[in-house]
Amino acid sequence: MNTVIENLLNDQIKYEANASMHYLAMASWSDANGYNGIADFFYAQSEEERLHMTKLVKFVNERGGNVVIPQLEKPHADYNALIELFEDFLKSEIFVTEQINHVIFECLNQKEYNVHNFMQWYVTEQLEEEATARTLLDKLNIIGNDKSGLYMFDRDINTIAASVDVDLK
Ligand code: FEO
Repeated sequence: MNTVIENLLNDQIKYEANASMHYLAMASWSDANGYNGIADFFYAQSEEERLHMTKLVKFVNERGGNVVIPQLEKPHADYNALIELFEDFLKSEIFVTEQINHVIFECLNQKEYNVHNFMQWYVTEQLEEEATARTLLDKLNIIGNDKSGLYMFDRDINTIAASVDVDLK
């Protein structure tokens, strides 16, 4: 496997793993602060990121590359308010998108068209995840400190997230 691409894919494995732990910490914070719906949302997001990581691990192995399972960063896990947590969520997704764009850029540079093709799945996934993070943050900004609004947000978060639809046509 092309070494430049192999290294970038290993970096991406680490970013997905870190995102998974980050969202697990967010789920735990939400649970501890009485937001059970939000906790369920982030437990599921954490699982999704783990799958993103595993998909890359399998791909690199299938292509005869060398996978390096990374040491994980301790995630930021302390928030003063819900809005901070969702700002952090969007920031994290934007970071992952930037890294994926970088991998795509290098795939073209290195003429690694198969990897480029494989990475398109991540491009679409990131579009959806960023749109979800933005929608949730927008809703929270509207709600502000209104307690009944926050109660409903916690109750309905999975419905709101499921309703986010990215038109790729
Ligand atoms: Fe797999 Fe949302 O980064």
